[in-house]
Parts: sequence; C-alpha cells; structure tokens
Amino acid sequence: MTLPTLHGLRLIANPAASPDALYGPRQCAILSPAGLAAARREIASWPGYAPTPLVALPGLAAAAGVADIRYKDESGRFGLGSFKALGGAYAVLRLLRSRPDRHPAEITVCCATDGNHGRSVAWGARQFGCRCVIFIHATVSEGRRAAIAAYGAEVIRTAGTYDDSVRAAAEAAARNGWHVVSDTSYDGYRDIPRDVMQGYTVMAEEALEQIPAPPTHVFVQGGVGGLAAAVCAQLWQRYGARRPVFVVAEPDRADCLFRSAAAGRRVAVPGDLNTLMAGLACGEVSELAWEILEPAAPFFTAIPDDAAVAVMRLLADGVDGDPPLVAGESAVAGLAVALAAAQDPPARAKLGLGPDARVLVFGTEGATDPDLYEELVGRPAASVAGAA
Ligand SMILES: Cc1ncc(COP(=O)(O)O)c(C=O)c1O
Repeated sequence: MTLPTLHGLRLIANPAASPDALYGPRQCAILSPAGLAAARREIASWPGYAPTPLVALPGLAAAAGVADIRYKDESGRFGLGSFKALGGAYAVLRLLRSRPDRHPAEITVCCATDGNHGRSVAWGARQFGCRCVIFIHATVSEGRRAAIAAYGAEVIRTAGTYDDSVRAAAEAAARNGWHVVSDTSYDGYRDIPRDVMQGYTVMAEEALEQIPAPPTHVFVQGGVGGLAAAVCAQLWQRYGARRPVFVVAEPDRADCLFRSAAAGRRVAVPGDLNTLMAGLACGEVSELAWEILEPAAPFFTAIPDDAAVAVMRLLADGVDGDPPLVAGESAVAGLAVALAAAQDPPARAKLGLGPDARVLVFGTEGATDPDLYEELVGRPAASVAGAA
C-alpha cells in the first residue's frame, strides 16, 4: 500500500545535544535505576497491572520503507485509556506516603489537566483514599470531564488555556492547603513531577524488554516534555552513547519543546494552542524534562493536526494486514513524524532513517474522547476490530 502523503513536517537538530553526554548526577537526581525499580515494584502490585502490548506493524514498516515499526499500545493501561495512568496515580501514592502524620482522608490533591493526567490523579486519589479536585480549561470536552468525575473527583472548569488552568490549580492549592500533583515542573516544584515521570519510565522499560532487537529510532510526542524525557532517560541509561536516534514530536500549534531547542533555552508558546491533539496542547516546557532532553535529544519536530488524523485512520484500518489499533489524537504524533520523515528524502537523510531502521513509537492513548474519535476516524472506536 502507498501511504497518504503527510505534509508540513518541521525538523530541527538540537545543537546542545551530544551522543557522548553522560547520564550524570544531574539526570540521576531526576530519574534513576533505583527510582525505576521502586516505581515498578509498586505499580506492578496494583490490581489490573499488566505490561501493555508492543505491537509489530510490518505492513506499515514496508510501506514506509523501514525494517520494523513497533507500537507500544497504551490504550488498555489500567482501564484508564492512556499511559498517564502510570504517572499521576504513582505521584499521589508517593505524596501520601511522605505524610505518615496525616490520614489520607485529611489530604486533598489537585491538578490541572487536559484530560488524561487528571484522570490518573483522580483514579489514584480514589484508590489510595484522599480527596481530589481537578481543574480543566475551557475546551476540554464534556466526555473528558465526565470521565474524571466518575472517579469521585470534584472537577472545576476555568477560562483560558491549559497553562491558565495550571495557575488556577496552584492558586487554589495555596489558598486551601491542598497538594498540587502536577505533571509539569517549574522552579521550586520538582519532587512530584519527578515521581510522575518515574512512573512513565515503567512503560519505557516494558517496551525495551519486549522489543526483540534494540530500536535504531524512537519517536515520542511531547506536551510539557515529561513523557519524552522519561523515555529518553531510559534509552540513555540502557544504551549510553549507542542509544537510538531520539526524535521529539509536537503539534505545530503547540511546539514549545521545538522552539526551546531552537532558542537554546526554555521558551513558552503564547496564544490559544489550538491543536486537536489535546494532550499535547502545552505552551510551557517542564523544567525537569528539559534537563534531560536538552543534552540528549538530537532532533525536535512539529507536524500539523491533519497528519495525526491521517495516522489515526491508518492505524484503525491496519496497513496491509497489520492489526487494527485504536489510537487517540494525542497518541500518534510520534508515528506521524516517523512516517512523514520516511516520505521526505532530506528528513530521511538527516535522521538516518534507512531501510534497516527499526522504529519504536509510543501509542500513548486510545479513544479517550470517544465522540471526537468517531468524528475524526469516521466510525466508533468499538467498531475497530480488536478494540477492547
Ligand atoms: C495521550 C498523551 N500523550 C502524550 C502526552 C504528553 O506528555 P507530556 O505532557 O509529559 O509531554 C500526553 C499529555 O497529557 C497525553 O495525554
């Protein structure tokens, strides 16, 4: 099969990244082998834990002119629909354990979310017995609001963008003595987002254990960068200077990581960040994520929304006998960039994406907004063969 042409890829090399950079004390203070072991031990003990599948897509790989594509399918993670189940809930647990003087029922956690992180925090709060208040911004869908409320959290809708809801959550927490469990870090707020990212490393490690041969290229989508940094850190620790080519992928309307790499420092994207990829609609880079990505991620990219939609459809249909997959709109930016780069000779050359390339991507969510999924793909997620 010939793939649809995916237009509008932007790609830059990160001048600050070096393959020889060592995973040093600064990075180890963020994500470490001991931290991974602890997160793994804990998360594996939760009811319903199982490694998510790493799906081989040979039809898609052949169509893209590479040797192998593996898709880590997070749609079934703990029944929450996304990899975020690993992060927020784990950070809630670590927070409660850090306060043995208080009964969990006396503690309130809160956060801002575009959907998936809030669902994880609400789920963790219910599991571990504390109160939970979740802030969502103006355009978070009603379906996503209801999915969070279903875990017993109070949900507050605020005006403006995701970044405005982050500020609203911080202000409410300061006023009421609540604990912010955020997936993004900033000056003076690092411990909790570090635990969130350490939870994500469990997913990365699962994938590296499942994959039959080390990948040559890994493409990961970025919102605030926590996910990309967690995957990058695992690759860096496991493979050192022989690690795969690592590519960060963002929506072109919310490209704060891309712009930061271009500027050589963290810069924010102003405006309404109007991308379909709700989970990636972030204008500000996480401080901790940047401390890992800046020295270690050699490429940053951005793609338009229509490329993501085209890839959601490709996955739902399954290319040339590949198993059909339900992927939400924020799940596929990495794969969309991989396919767009494979079609574009200069990008292919820049990334060394040749016929021997073994590509790993992370399908970070299923149809977490089922109505939007149906609108974009043209049929309900439940009708995609093999859908849970
Ligand atoms: C499905 C999905 N993929 C990827 C991301 C990006 O994660 P991060 O914000 O840590 O970069 C998110 C964030 O919400 C998400 O929901």
